[in-house]
Amino acid sequence: MEKSAKIYIAGHRGMVGSAIQRKLTSQGFTNLVIRTSSELDLRNQQAVTDFFALEKPDYVFLAAAKVGGIIANNTYRADFLYENLTIQNNVIHQAYVTGVKKLMFLGSSCIYPKLAPQPLKEEYLLTGLLEETNEPYAIAKIAGIKMCDAYRAQYNCNFISVMPTNLYGYNDNYHPQNSHVLPALIRKFHEAKVNATPEVIIWGSGSPMREFLFADDLADACYFLMENYNEPHLINIGTGEDLTIKDLALLVKKVTGFEGDLTFDSTKPDGTPRKLMDVSKLHNLGWKHQIELEEGINLAYRDFLAKHI
Ligand SMILES: NC(=O)c1ccc[n+]([C@@H]2O[C@H](COP(=O)([O-])OP(=O)(O)OC[C@H]3O[C@@H](n4cnc5c(N)ncnc54)[C@H](OP(=O)(O)O)[C@@H]3O)[C@@H](O)[C@H]2O)c1
Repeated sequence: MEKSAKIYIAGHRGMVGSAIQRKLTSQGFTNLVIRTSSELDLRNQQAVTDFFALEKPDYVFLAAAKVGGIIANNTYRADFLYENLTIQNNVIHQAYVTGVKKLMFLGSSCIYPKLAPQPLKEEYLLTGLLEETNEPYAIAKIAGIKMCDAYRAQYNCNFISVMPTNLYGYNDNYHPQNSHVLPALIRKFHEAKVNATPEVIIWGSGSPMREFLFADDLADACYFLMENYNEPHLINIGTGEDLTIKDLALLVKKVTGFEGDLTFDSTKPDGTPRKLMDVSKLHNLGWKHQIELEEGINLAYRDFLAKHI
């Protein structure tokens, strides 16, 4: 991408979009196009059509989506399917119509079958049933991947799809019900410390294994792939390393300084038993993460304290 290229970051106030904006700004890109959802509702087809016709961006990072944790995904099933399909349909189609040079679509690791072999290789897409709790979200993301591939095949569009693992970082969502596991733990442990609660109760058995990537590392990978990767299908972005939810909770306990006990509520759902990305495709291209988990949790916790306390 030329430094003066016009780059639209859809979702620039979100955790991922804001990290991409920081990355591009630090690299000297000056012509960034941004809109909040109240300025441009990406569910509105006419508004998206008008926006692309007016701005004609050269490059697009599609990081706007309806995103949430296991409860939000399972509760707002219709919204997750409708909003994500509509946002990506509108943006991807208008990127084609207005001749965008390259678009990056951000998916998620939940597109893989619930019981796929581990680590998750890109070719496992559509080889089995999805995790029921986030199936609508996953179906929308799979449609996005297929849409990028179809526009590449039929119209020769350079649209790529990247599948990040679980993310955390600056500007994360710490909502008590709708957040992902890591920010939810940060909030829980922090509140327990402040209120001197004797124990923290964690949903599920603590045994599922998960992988986490700091959002600024993801943004670095997105920038790297935007510069170096031009293929159909999808590419995983992660660390290739995982840990149990119990070990994650112990790490958050350490970082927040909570001194009470941990209890696991096994009556609550665990979700997929293990979700680890195979990142050999990305590593073979020459990219690797830099921020390790404890360091990243420290950075995220400081951001949480600055913005939410
Ligand atoms: N968080 C994770 O762990 C994770 C993991 C893997 C993949 N991803 C993917 O990364 C992408 C971004 O996720 P995130 O965590 O950054 O989410 P986020 O923090 O919730 O941000 C989402 C952004 O999307 C925008 N948005 C939502 N609905 C919109 C609409 N109708 N019109 C215009 N903009 C809209 C919001 O804009 P406003 O702020 O202006 O309202 C917001 O900035 C998503 O595609 C997600 O699937 C996230």
